[in-house]
Amino acid sequence: MACVAFTSTATHKCWSSSFIDKFPISSVAFPELPNSSAFRFSPPRKAAISRRISVVVAMSSSSKSTVLVTGAGGRTGQIVYKKLKEKADQYTARGLVRTPESKEKIGGEDDVYVGDIRDAEAIVPAIQGIDALIILTSAVPKMKPGFDPAQGGRPEFYFEEGAFPEQVDWIGQKNQIDAAKAAGVKQIVLVGSMGGTNPNHPLNSIGNGNILIWKRKAEQYLADSGIPYTIIRAGGLQDKEGGIRELLVGKDDELLETETRTIARADVAETCIQALIFEEAKFKALDLASKPEGSGTPTKDFKALFSRVTSRF
Ligand SMILES: NC(=O)c1ccc[n+]([C@@H]2O[C@H](COP(=O)([O-])OP(=O)(O)OC[C@H]3O[C@@H](n4cnc5c(N)ncnc54)[C@H](OP(=O)(O)O)[C@@H]3O)[C@@H](O)[C@H]2O)c1
Repeated sequence: MACVAFTSTATHKCWSSSFIDKFPISSVAFPELPNSSAFRFSPPRKAAISRRISVVVAMSSSSKSTVLVTGAGGRTGQIVYKKLKEKADQYTARGLVRTPESKEKIGGEDDVYVGDIRDAEAIVPAIQGIDALIILTSAVPKMKPGFDPAQGGRPEFYFEEGAFPEQVDWIGQKNQIDAAKAAGVKQIVLVGSMGGTNPNHPLNSIGNGNILIWKRKAEQYLADSGIPYTIIRAGGLQDKEGGIRELLVGKDDELLETETRTIARADVAETCIQALIFEEAKFKALDLASKPEGSGTPTKDFKALFSRVTSRF
């Protein structure tokens, strides 16, 4: 069976699960109040009270971080957007999607912007005023019609004209990083893929797209940008429940040599959010997979997880 867990029904887009099995890729605390000595003794006058209230209100709203997730209509992006919305006391969520249809799919709220990342101008409104950016856009190969799983063999894949990894995973990601830098964004989390150390990785041959090579180029561009970053290179993605497995971090694709090289999209999404919280996640690149459910201890301490990562790239 060629296309199971990774299929989007209408477009047949997937990274074939059997392919991946075979070639696995793979706070905000309220600001401290001013020193209490500033408030003691004489009862404050009305104007002073009102001034103080407005200061507190301003501090309260500025303590929330505005976070944009791009690819918010995608399978991992949707989860990140939802998680941000659920933490409305900490984050002001924004999403960027490619089409109005994707916007409707995730609820159609005003905080979802529509723009194509290949068009540098189109993404500026979504990026203006954000504190952090989570990049979850990716070129997606489509399966050529006519494949019959019953007859065995392998399906063939292609990228649509203009939507090759070079345009989406390189130019599109670069556009986002450039726009974020121009807007003074304080942190970028980029989700990539394991497998990038091997230029001959089988995933590069899909649709002649060299997808891992273009992803890697964008990762390097981010690491060189000077913006605090976290690069999360995921193993084979699975649509499974998150929060119930022990997560594993690695470097240089070493995890691909082991039996533990897959990860639930929900766990990738949570790791993106947690990367916003801990300084230990910044200026780091990590491979991410998980132990199978039931073996190991489900990861709860992300500070410790990020502390184990030593690689800047
Ligand atoms: N599949 C795997 O096993 C695997 C393994 C390791 C890493 N990864 C990587 O992990 C990340 C998340 O994967 P996923 O499967 O959750 O993602 P996904 O569902 O394929 O979502 C990708 C998103 O990118 C958007 N996009 C594509 N071109 C765009 C453009 N020109 N402008 C704006 N948005 C655009 C798509 O929008 P539309 O829906 O509108 O096209 C889609 O929402 C990706 O980088 C992927 O390559 C995947």
